[in-house]
Amino acid sequence: ISGRIRPVTPTELSTYSTQQDAWLAIRGRVYNITFYLPYHPGGPEELMRGAGIVATELFDKVHPWVIYDSLLAKCLVVPLRADRPYAE
Ligand code: HEM
Repeated sequence: ISGRIRPVTPTELSTYSTQQDAWLAIRGRVYNITFYLPYHPGGPEELMRGAGIVATELFDKVHPWVIYDSLLAKCLVVPLRADRPYAE
């Protein structure tokens, strides 16, 4: 599917958790942090704690003042959506 935004679920997000291909979600947005890892001031290991997960709480616990959305503007992948968006 090209030319269309396809939201990622937390389940799919969890498969991107290696240093070679790391995604992270904060406040409903999914970012590919792979290329930012070497530049993270707290080190790649710290940033990897948020890899493959919805890391909003972790992020806010460590540095709520960081303007992550600007820093990761070019790393934005897609919106996050709930695993089960609709009641069955
Ligand atoms: C600094 C952890 C995500 C940007 C730090 C530091 C830690 C840390 C421990 C402090 C380093 C020090 O002062 O020695 C984490 C963890 C993350 C995470 C566990 C997982 C969610 C991010 C993201 C960004 C980011 C997504 C933005 C792209 C920064 C910046 C600093 C920093 C700019 C320097 C902040 C300052 O000195 O005021 N991080 N980080 N971090 N991190 Fe993260």
